[in-house]
Amino acid sequence: MVSRVIPVETFDLVIFGGTGDLARRKILPGLFRRFLSGQMPPEARIIGAARSELDTAGYREMIAEAVAEFGGAETNNTKGLQAFLERLDYVAIDARGEGGWAALAELVRSDVVQAYYFSVAPALFGDLAERLHKHGIASAQSRIVVEKPFGRDLESARDLNRTLAAHFDESQIYRIDHYLGKETVQNLMAVRFGNVLFEPLWNNHYVDHIQITVAETVGVGGRGAYYDKSGAMRDMVQNHLMQLLCLIAMEPPGQFEADAVRDEKLKVIRALQPVENHHIVRGQYDAGKDGPSYRDDVENARSFTESFIAMRVHINNWRWAGVPFYLRTGKRMKARSSEIAVVFKDLGHTIFEGDEARHRNILSIRLQPNEGMDLQVTIKEPGPGGMRLIDVPLDMTFADALGAEAEDVTDAYERLIMDVIRGNQTLFMRGDEVEAAWRWTDPLIDGWEARNDVPKLYDAGSAGPEDALMLMHRDGRKWREIKG
Ligand code: BG6
Repeated sequence: MVSRVIPVETFDLVIFGGTGDLARRKILPGLFRRFLSGQMPPEARIIGAARSELDTAGYREMIAEAVAEFGGAETNNTKGLQAFLERLDYVAIDARGEGGWAALAELVRSDVVQAYYFSVAPALFGDLAERLHKHGIASAQSRIVVEKPFGRDLESARDLNRTLAAHFDESQIYRIDHYLGKETVQNLMAVRFGNVLFEPLWNNHYVDHIQITVAETVGVGGRGAYYDKSGAMRDMVQNHLMQLLCLIAMEPPGQFEADAVRDEKLKVIRALQPVENHHIVRGQYDAGKDGPSYRDDVENARSFTESFIAMRVHINNWRWAGVPFYLRTGKRMKARSSEIAVVFKDLGHTIFEGDEARHRNILSIRLQPNEGMDLQVTIKEPGPGGMRLIDVPLDMTFADALGAEAEDVTDAYERLIMDVIRGNQTLFMRGDEVEAAWRWTDPLIDGWEARNDVPKLYDAGSAGPEDALMLMHRDGRKWREIKG
């Protein structure tokens, strides 16, 4: 395979929270892979900054272990790992005090791209931003990267936006939603806007409905304290599913450029209709044969937080009037499977005698696993026996179609961090998008909290509560099977 890796400019990336879970699991193993691929220039540097009193040697040791645990196939490359570790520095820093800031100021170079990854609790964003300026470290060209949760409602998201805006321009702020970094999610845009085939059909004349499913097999064990205060709506729908919905539903942007794309996504969020109660189903997993119940996982016997949510959503605009979007996501479900399915309308009339079956075209875009796409089409069943019709998938599993190139797909975090260094904000959420998403989500959450709504129990390892099936049955439709 011909390498198409284009090295980014030399950079200094400071990771606040550099000893934390995200840094060890995702950010550093991802950067190691980019280093090996040649995309991270040899002079680039990564500076871990955290509370722990480590020195650089101790930090390198910690990251070597993290890479061994989470780095994937490349971890055997010991020479490469050694060279990568040499790019690492560490500063023990006090986010709320003065300790370590002078040392950081010494380390960061002013003549390379500077990026600051705030992989810390949002309550510290303001402190970090202020000190980066006070100590003359950040400049008008520096970039900062922030993670979800970006607030827990509109008010807190606005506060965070204001805090960041006091120190950085919007063009410097990179809000990560790692779903936007997934290969297939970007492919969704390529499919929609790079082919003549789909766009003419992409509207309420031809589309019956759209289903977005993000099913996980994992529970919330280990993250119970955070999750029980969030639930599936705040943890998944307000951000990841919302972004998928935007990319599926948005108008074609004038060009593939950050603000053009984000303007169109924002219009979708603003056009979302409030969802009525009976179009929302909240669920909570019960104990199954291979794991405890949600309530045991979060150690809260009276928790009313949802680990599953399904809802019917409408977009009030010309293109999508009358087309329902069914969203569902949950933990401890029967398989890990994320897909978007565009279900086209029935034929108005069939010319084939005796063919009473409904034949529908369905375009399904699989995010994970087996990234790819398939288009269900109707054909004649081969062989004798008259004109009998069957539905077959035109399957394009990227690994089959693209071979080794598909295996080389970069992880979402790797891609997004390289985009930060390149200064490309297309795959990052803008402040107004995040606020608009909360503006739509808040009343729904307030509604069920005011009603003391109790989530429906579902068996771990199932497709969610029965009521979620009913949500579609009532409309004469059904969910696609969740298959791993
Ligand atoms: C995170 C959520 O943002 O996304 C987790 O906080 C969830 O609860 C995760 O498990 C899912 O990401 P992925 O990439 O595994 O689908």
